[in-house]
Amino acid sequence: MCGIVGYVGNRQASSILVEGLSKLEYRGYDSAGIAVLNNNEIEVRKFKGRLQNLANSLNEKPINGNIGIGHTRWATHGEPSDVNSHPHSNANVTLSVVHNGIIENYIKLREWLTSKGYTFFSETDTEVIPNLIDFYYEGDLFDAVVKATSKLEGSFAIGVVNKNEPDKLIAVRKDSPLIVGLGNDEFFIASDIPAVLNYTRNIYLLEDKEFVILTKDGVELRTEEGEKIEKEIYHVTWNVDAAEKGGYEDFMLKEIHEQPKAVKDTLLGKIALNKEITLDNITFTKEELENFDKIYIVACGTAYHAGVVGKTVIEKLAKIPVEVDIASEFRYRDPMITDKTLIIVVSQSGETADTLAVLRDGKKQGARILAITNVVGSSVSREADDVFYTLAGPEIAVASTKAYVTQLAAFYILGLYFASLKNTLCIEEIETIKSELLQIPDKIERALNMKDSLQKFASSHYNHKDMYFLGRGLDYAVAMEGSLKLKEISYIHCDAYAAGELKHGPIALIEKDTAVITLLTQEYLKDKMISNVREVSTRGGNIFAVVNEGDTIAREVCDDLVYIPKTIDLLTPLVSVIPLQLISYYIAKQKGCDVDKPRNLAKSVTVE
Ligand code: M6R
Repeated sequence: MCGIVGYVGNRQASSILVEGLSKLEYRGYDSAGIAVLNNNEIEVRKFKGRLQNLANSLNEKPINGNIGIGHTRWATHGEPSDVNSHPHSNANVTLSVVHNGIIENYIKLREWLTSKGYTFFSETDTEVIPNLIDFYYEGDLFDAVVKATSKLEGSFAIGVVNKNEPDKLIAVRKDSPLIVGLGNDEFFIASDIPAVLNYTRNIYLLEDKEFVILTKDGVELRTEEGEKIEKEIYHVTWNVDAAEKGGYEDFMLKEIHEQPKAVKDTLLGKIALNKEITLDNITFTKEELENFDKIYIVACGTAYHAGVVGKTVIEKLAKIPVEVDIASEFRYRDPMITDKTLIIVVSQSGETADTLAVLRDGKKQGARILAITNVVGSSVSREADDVFYTLAGPEIAVASTKAYVTQLAAFYILGLYFASLKNTLCIEEIETIKSELLQIPDKIERALNMKDSLQKFASSHYNHKDMYFLGRGLDYAVAMEGSLKLKEISYIHCDAYAAGELKHGPIALIEKDTAVITLLTQEYLKDKMISNVREVSTRGGNIFAVVNEGDTIAREVCDDLVYIPKTIDLLTPLVSVIPLQLISYYIAKQKGCDVDKPRNLAKSVTVE
């Protein structure tokens, strides 16, 4: 999704803006640009393509000036092109705007502005914003921005500069993320914290419809009525290195290797042997929990796949019926929500538009909302009733890896917490699962050591056009995640099937050398699974299997396999996903794909 940055201070704005944008590249983009106030004129430079195009142009011909805005664009309205890139300005470039979000009523506004004599040059929805601000401008930029944004429908985080008030940058958000960085005599806006971390750790997390006026002398927060807002400063505690590659070739590989620590950190302080489970931002009483007649788990993409595991975990441990849904479907299917409903939304970023919409609709209908998120201060974390923070650290690669395993860890902890409140498990059962859970970081570490055989598999299978993933029970849930991982970074067509469904259709796809990755880790389903594997091999399929250490049968029916450290069936997804992530990574690398920034994808999908 688009990323915005802004700078006001004493240094050259252009280099700070480009550096800030480079920290937002992970969000996905197809063009980049900046606008800097230079000798009371606005100079705009913007290009289709990588940020490097903009950086090269600025090296050849710098823009001087200490105040400016910048943007990485992920095309929604209008193809990626120089003219559609941001910043956008009014015709005589007195005002420039960067925008993340979608203006839903832009066609109406554009027609109306055209009737008033305004001219448009791009195909974007954003271009109405500088023109609307221009229309309302009568010498006070704040006033004009308030009036203009009151006419906008949709989502926006915007930064605005005006050559008639050359010391000022104004920003505001609605349904798109925006933070303000507070430095010494220099101030910043950005879509996400990593963009400002080299300069400051003190941040304001803006709420919807909070306006901010930045000058080099300070920052003022106002409501749309112009009243001053007092806000607490959020101090970022994680290290800037956490958002850097740290010697790895790609963020994805680094994040795959951070998984033992990510799970350990997420468990820490919550799970310990012979101690009650304590959760900081979650406060259910036994009565409240017993009052829920249904839990919905709602999320998108990888977070949804974690939810599929979460359903089994909560039902098995806490005996509460759970439905799991894709957020973009759930919000339009008129689900039955009452004050007896608990909705668990799962979102790494905490900004996914569809997930956020489910949270808001659910709240309106009386449900209690528990969020599992990785980002403190994200919209989801601020609007939910209870929050479970996964402690994965910043996840930069578009393909989610460490967020997934920490979301799984969150479900195991919540399942145990609910079970102990409801007394659905005895103490010994709880302690056994806790003890297994505490060993998981080491088991993930050992699974990461299998990389040589996975790399070998990747180099002999990277040129397949299609691949299939099979599993039963929790293995099927992990197969879905493995399939998503491979398709999103290697562009190989993949599908995951519940192995028992094979003979109801998908088996028609199997022919000689069709590549099939199977998971055989659920001991209680092993015999059934072996029969399904035979169905595939009989038809010529080439089978690679993920199996538990100690298994003796799989080798007889599979072409190749990898052994993972054994744990109890319920917890296996935390370990079995590791080889699938590594296979995807190595196949994508072998194909020369940009694993951190796959085509057409954005890290955080903040539009519907
Ligand atoms: O930030 P979220 O967890 O809400 O994001 C949800 C999905 O967009 C995300 O998991 C996406 O599917 C990833 N690209 C998967 O690797």
